[in-house]
Amino acid sequence: MSNVSAIILAAGAGTRMKSSKSKLVHEVCFRPIVEWVYQAAAGAGAGKIVTVIGHQAQQVKACLGEEKLYALQEKQLGTGDAVKSAMPNIDDGGCVLVLSGDVPLISEETLRAAVDYHLKNRFAATIITADVKDPTGYGRVIRDENDSVKYIVEEKDATPAQKVVTEINSGLYCFDTGLLRAALGELSNDNAQGEYYLTDTVAILLKTGYRVGAFRLADDREIMGINDKVQLSQANEAMKQKIIREHMLQGVTFINPDSCYISPETEMEPDVVIYPGTLLEGNCKIGSGSVIGPNTHLTDVTVGENTKIESSVLCSSTVGSNTNVGPFAYVRPGSTIGSQVKVGDFVEVKNSVIGEGTKISHLTYVGDSDVGEKVNFGCGTVTVNYDGQEKHRTTIGDRSFIGCNTNLVAPVTVEADSYIAAGSTITDTVPADALAIARSRQVVKEGWKKNKFGSDNK
Ligand code: UD1
Ligand code: CA
Repeated sequence: MSNVSAIILAAGAGTRMKSSKSKLVHEVCFRPIVEWVYQAAAGAGAGKIVTVIGHQAQQVKACLGEEKLYALQEKQLGTGDAVKSAMPNIDDGGCVLVLSGDVPLISEETLRAAVDYHLKNRFAATIITADVKDPTGYGRVIRDENDSVKYIVEEKDATPAQKVVTEINSGLYCFDTGLLRAALGELSNDNAQGEYYLTDTVAILLKTGYRVGAFRLADDREIMGINDKVQLSQANEAMKQKIIREHMLQGVTFINPDSCYISPETEMEPDVVIYPGTLLEGNCKIGSGSVIGPNTHLTDVTVGENTKIESSVLCSSTVGSNTNVGPFAYVRPGSTIGSQVKVGDFVEVKNSVIGEGTKISHLTYVGDSDVGEKVNFGCGTVTVNYDGQEKHRTTIGDRSFIGCNTNLVAPVTVEADSYIAAGSTITDTVPADALAIARSRQVVKEGWKKNKFGSDNK
């Protein structure tokens, strides 16, 4: 696309959110509101993107990344003033998308289409508009008898007759950069709010003899702005439905889409099945035939094919194919779980490699460990990885068999094909093919109770 840049307005206070956090860093489907807008601008082909910050500027910067381009609007004197503060960063000779930081559902496709429409018609400005049932709170688009745009009037400045108009200004625009710059210079704050309205540039451009167009959307859901927590939840709902719908069209089965949240980055192959109460956050990749949920939360997890993960929490880890995880497993960051593995109930795995075919069926903690293939963990095994000061690794060779209730005091090595007797506390290397027993022998005291309490005591 030819020389398109973007300005994102994100300096406002967002008081209606009633939050100590900036409105713009609240999340919709795991992604901050302002980042949705940024991604849409980038996806629509904007080369240079300048975000205008003011209120809680540092939070917005931390969210989008310090390396991005920012313009500081010292005082919130209105949307026109906000755009003006970004203009020194924008070069003439192309067009510029002006976007509201609090309208996260806008898609890159719509922005692209609006820019195309703008360029094709050689407009000085194009306003993205929509007809809505309840226009309350929005600026109204006023047209003349030929249906051409005349100006935008803010709700607070509107006459009763103007308030009846249902075509609203979305707050998203495409401008010819040079003409916008000139029009901004002519803004005044002579209005109900004493602000410099960006919307007044429309009348200014028309008066100077330029043409202004309206790109009217059939579907107004994309331009929904977020001002309070009710709208935040509505936006979440809309975005969630959009994301899940796309996965379903690509062949993923959702048993109950309403109860699931899927991040925009998540990738799933056809024939994945998602059960109710599943959250896939961050960068998740799920292979064909895998079944996730119910009640499962994955964050940055890659899963192979035909794997089952039920009622479990996994973060920043990889799981192979034909593996079963859960119910009630917790896989913490840095774990690589192989194929044909079983990680059963109440098992915690952290920063460990689990080889193919290994079984950790129940009530076990495997931390900082390198586990080979076809290892069998008895119930209640604990890798004792922390000495109070430092973490140590445990190494377990292929096909070794760890008896129930074993402590493996790291650093320690259990070599291949070895056996450990149940209840052992292992502190030294177990050699290959050996049996290690590290507990005291059983002592039996015959008739002990009778001797102690007498024969009548039952
Ligand atoms: C604005 C439009 C209105 C439109 C509506 C759509 C104007 C005058 N009005 O009204 O026609 O229907 O959006 O949602 O533009 N901001 C700054 N600095 C400021 C003021 C605002 O950065 O000094 C930012 C805000 O953070 C926000 C965006 O600009 O992201 C819009 O500002 P807001 O005050 O919400 O405008 P509206 O009253 O909603
Ligand atoms: Ca707003």
